[in-house]
Amino acid sequence: MSYKFKLPQYPYDQLDVLKTKVAEKFGRVIDLSIGTPVDPSPEAVKEAYCNLNGSEIGYPPSVGSSELISAISDWLEHLIGFKPNSTRIGACIGTKEFIASLPGILKLKYPEKDTVIGPALAYPTYEMGARLAGLNYEEIEVVNGEPELTGLSDEVIDRSLCLYVNSPANPSGEIYDLDRIARFAKEKNLLVVSDECYIEYNWNGNAKSILSQDCKNILAVHSLSKRSNAAGIRVGSYTGDAEVVGFLKEVRKHAGLMIPGPSQKAAAAAFRDLEYIQVQKDTYFKRLEILAEFFREIGLEVQLPQGSFYLWIKLISDSRLNGLDQYDDLCWKWTHWIALNTGVLVSPGIFYGEGGRDYVRVAAVAMTDLLMELIA
Ligand SMILES: Cc1ncc(COP(=O)(O)O)c(C=O)c1O
Repeated sequence: MSYKFKLPQYPYDQLDVLKTKVAEKFGRVIDLSIGTPVDPSPEAVKEAYCNLNGSEIGYPPSVGSSELISAISDWLEHLIGFKPNSTRIGACIGTKEFIASLPGILKLKYPEKDTVIGPALAYPTYEMGARLAGLNYEEIEVVNGEPELTGLSDEVIDRSLCLYVNSPANPSGEIYDLDRIARFAKEKNLLVVSDECYIEYNWNGNAKSILSQDCKNILAVHSLSKRSNAAGIRVGSYTGDAEVVGFLKEVRKHAGLMIPGPSQKAAAAAFRDLEYIQVQKDTYFKRLEILAEFFREIGLEVQLPQGSFYLWIKLISDSRLNGLDQYDDLCWKWTHWIALNTGVLVSPGIFYGEGGRDYVRVAAVAMTDLLMELIA
């Protein structure tokens, strides 16, 4: 029996050897490669975990407890002025799980379709979810700061289970016109999945969602990991077209996909904590500014992102890289040079697609005092 699909190495594992070298050389690593939040989660989350009454230990509802779903609904109303009812919201075990499994589930509903559309430069799980389900991944480019939708032929659209967009985008930090994309979803009768896990980290104004009263062909995905530094409790949600949400809930129930009860309780508290996020936003923005200064001092041109907590830095050829000829791509050369000369680990842009060969991504996920030392 032969398998066509060859599982690639997990991107961040490719940094392990370099990480060890940095630790040996500097006695520590400032790891800004993976976007793992480092700040403490809100007290409300810890309190919820410490005050369990026992009822949370039984089998939890796969679709999300009514307490969690109503907290998500209230949070959305506060954030974007739209209060979805419970038929429009489902819970997931972190959004990576949801994104990785969605194509396979949608394929059950539309067996004649065989493609997922998503950004060429992106969070790798959009493509991985398609591949894990044996589907094609059709890339779209971002042109002049917006996903290029007009290039999609009707034939590709008809074959596609969904189209992913991500705004604020990982890794580029771009923010898109989501209203235009929602109109496209309706006109073309194509399900658009809008990954909004950085929704609160918009540096140009208010949070923007694709959701509105009319959620036809729309799903928005939200995560607690980045808003509440709660990646470890594994809670996310999907909201939108009630028919699609209803189908996903049923399949996910059959598959036993459920957030543990204590996490559901803690997550409800986290979604209701509206003050904490303001502090966290200020923290990330300050760190982005510090890191921008640090990388400018190294000689790279750096722009602050429109949203998210990443710097996406365009690289240049440089004589300092001469000893690193064993690496073909500029992103790998610079990742090594930065790590071995400063003790800072970043992600080579190629992790996010071919278009990232000449970039590195820097996540503002080390404590601010530590980052200050870099520019002292
Ligand atoms: C764009 C994007 N979507 C989804 C996720 C997954 O987050 P989680 O599974 O913690 O909800 C990430 C994590 O880095 C991300 O960058």
